[in-house]
Amino acid sequence: MWLLLSLCCAAGSAWPGVAHAERVIRFSHVVARDTPKGLAVERFKELVERRSAGRIRVAVYPAAQLYGDLDEMEALRLGAVEMLAPSLSKFGRVGFPEFELFDLPFLFTQLQDVRRITHGPIGQRLLDSLARQGMVGLGFFDNGFKQMSANRPLLEPGDFAGLRMRVQSSRVIAAQFRALNARPVVLAFSETRRALAAHVVDGTENPVSNFWTQRMHEVQSDLSMTNHGYLGYAVVANQRFWGSLAPAERELIERAMREALAYGNAIADAENERALQALRAAGTTRIHELSTQQRAQLRAAVQPAYDQMAARIGTRWLQDVLKALEP
Ligand code: LMR
Repeated sequence: MWLLLSLCCAAGSAWPGVAHAERVIRFSHVVARDTPKGLAVERFKELVERRSAGRIRVAVYPAAQLYGDLDEMEALRLGAVEMLAPSLSKFGRVGFPEFELFDLPFLFTQLQDVRRITHGPIGQRLLDSLARQGMVGLGFFDNGFKQMSANRPLLEPGDFAGLRMRVQSSRVIAAQFRALNARPVVLAFSETRRALAAHVVDGTENPVSNFWTQRMHEVQSDLSMTNHGYLGYAVVANQRFWGSLAPAERELIERAMREALAYGNAIADAENERALQALRAAGTTRIHELSTQQRAQLRAAVQPAYDQMAARIGTRWLQDVLKALEP
């Protein structure tokens, strides 16, 4: 099926709707359409297709239909897709451990702080570094802050003891859970709900929009509003594809991307809020707010992750980030 899709799209002819396109951008991602990422990618598609009068088509493959966490970066490298928007946590595994700085728990208190990194010189350096692996970094955008779920409330450090927690492939996130005496288990996003249902893992962390659209509420009785960490994305393109574009095409795509990312950032909070309302209405999952003291305890408990991961992230990167976040 994958092969078939790739062949159809590469040929740009047999696939419905791309018959007259001169270029097809295959854009693969792992989440549902009605999430901050899904909607931002749809906006990008709409802008590119309209402004190029259909000459450039964007074929979007959401929900890991085409490639998932384990193979999407390789697919981009090989030119089997032109664009991706993996979470920042997924770049460490492919040789960019400095991207895992975004996973440090309680590093950011609000999205405005994230912007100081992503929209400043550090963000630019991170995007530029991707050239090392044949990727062109086109920009960053948000999902939002992560919450913790399990079949019990997770409000204090002791609540995590012994739990198997699904994590993305980030050593920093793994260190966060180890500091809480939980056992991190790396799983692809598309496998997570099933693993929760089968009790292969006991809990996980994600912004509410991902939790809701994966129907994790059907298999998790408790969601604790910890807001302990950030989940965001980098849009990357295959370098050969990027190099093959005419300057006018590149400009059109870059502009559409800038606007789509701004749109994604503008709706992310509201999408997470909408998902939270839907979750409340579904009534399947208890939603817990943390007291200031509980949050402070969690924050203190995960501090070892900073020291343990400083060398992996790079002390220089870490110093620069902490400095940029100074009030
Ligand atoms: C996850 O794997 O939990 C997230 O990165 C999924 C996503 O892309 O939002």
